[in-house]
Amino acid sequence: TTSIARRYKTNDKGTFGEYTASTRWPIIIQNSIDDITAELAKNSSQGDYKKQGEIIKQELIKYRQELLDHIPLRKFTQEECKIANVPLSFNEYLDSHKGVTWNNVEWLFSEIYLYRRINVMFQLQPLWKHFDIFNSLKQSTFKASLYGVIELALRYQSLITKFDSIANDNDKEILEILFKEFVEISLWGNATDLSLLTNATLDDIKSIQGAKAREESESKILINDTKKAWDTLIKLQGSNSRVDFILDNSGFELYADLMLASFLLHTKLANKIIFHAKDTPYMVSDVMLKDFDILLEDLKDRSFFNIDPNSNDSRALDLFADNIKKFNVEGAIEVRTDSFWTNNLDYWNLDPSETKYHGAELHKDLLNSNLVIFKGDLNYRKLTGDRKWAHTTSWDDAIGPLSSNGITLLSLRTIKADVLVGLPEGLNEELSELWEKDHPGHGSWWRSSGKWAVICYASS
Ligand code: F6P
Ligand code: MG
Repeated sequence: TTSIARRYKTNDKGTFGEYTASTRWPIIIQNSIDDITAELAKNSSQGDYKKQGEIIKQELIKYRQELLDHIPLRKFTQEECKIANVPLSFNEYLDSHKGVTWNNVEWLFSEIYLYRRINVMFQLQPLWKHFDIFNSLKQSTFKASLYGVIELALRYQSLITKFDSIANDNDKEILEILFKEFVEISLWGNATDLSLLTNATLDDIKSIQGAKAREESESKILINDTKKAWDTLIKLQGSNSRVDFILDNSGFELYADLMLASFLLHTKLANKIIFHAKDTPYMVSDVMLKDFDILLEDLKDRSFFNIDPNSNDSRALDLFADNIKKFNVEGAIEVRTDSFWTNNLDYWNLDPSETKYHGAELHKDLLNSNLVIFKGDLNYRKLTGDRKWAHTTSWDDAIGPLSSNGITLLSLRTIKADVLVGLPEGLNEELSELWEKDHPGHGSWWRSSGKWAVICYASS
């Protein structure tokens, strides 16, 4: 096997990571400052709530400046660790990486640390403990996804009565075609990531969420292991099979994941789905437990999606939301959370060897799953350790212990960061040249454009 590459850093010249740390993070924090300012301007913001909110706002302003001034990343205080339940893994990292600054630190660690620091500010103010600073952005972007949401609901409505007969038909060909379609729905659902899409117009969102867009995007899936996942699940059809989703973003992506999940349940390719959500607001748009409930409410709320309640579109939304609710009540869809998903450890730690931060526990549990689907870009970065692998490195080498510790996994990722493995010789260079033409000086950023994707499978 190849030797282990070092991780990407925020000072790797010309990388998307460098651009993210220097330019995108200050914007993300500024957006949070704007959002809390708006919250504080509401009539309902009074008394201690207002006072505590003002403290958070000032902290955010200071924090943004810390980033711009490239000061060293500090450890969490004992008080912070205790009150805000910060996993000690953060401070352990900082103990072994003394003096790292925002512009000279591993990208993966610093990005996760960034969101944890924000969360701590809220946790320290009792009346703001459960305030999700990214909620209003998550909600408004989902609202803007109406077109894609309805299109998928109509597709679901047209198929639902046929699922049974399709699943029972001995000719598995149609089922496999649909499986592929629903996997792609879930894959491209990841293209709507709020940390990248903050400036997207309604038309932009439309253009990446429709069926036509998906078809045109097939050639953009550079590695496609869908068949391997299909072979795994079809063998188990009708038995007690379980599929897990390590979720990524709420709103449209979660909605797309629910489409795939209910397809698997209706066709008995799985009879239990477990969703793994985040325990803190994370990476702007990631799913928290409460976001699952919010999504189901949004789908039924005609003042949220402003459509005629007597229209077929409205019936299609109701049908889907009711079915998901039913699966959830019956226990066929379960949503869980664990602090492991928001700590700084990469997924090489989803292994019996990691005994302090739930890596071993989760690994043991995921051994009971027949397929663990890791959604999105950040999960891919954590799977591969966000390392500077040669792009031709094999997937098995890049995921380390996960290639041989018993978990069967599928990564569905639209490519939004520098790390990428498993490519044939020359493809990275070819696409870099192509991208360079329209983006002079930034050819390698084809890998952070979100326009290409990979579907990677592993099993042992
Ligand atoms: O790489 C850009 C980025 O926005 C990172 O901040 C983060 O790793 C990732 O994309 C988030 O994307 P996703 O929601 O797909 O994990
Ligand atoms: Mg995300």
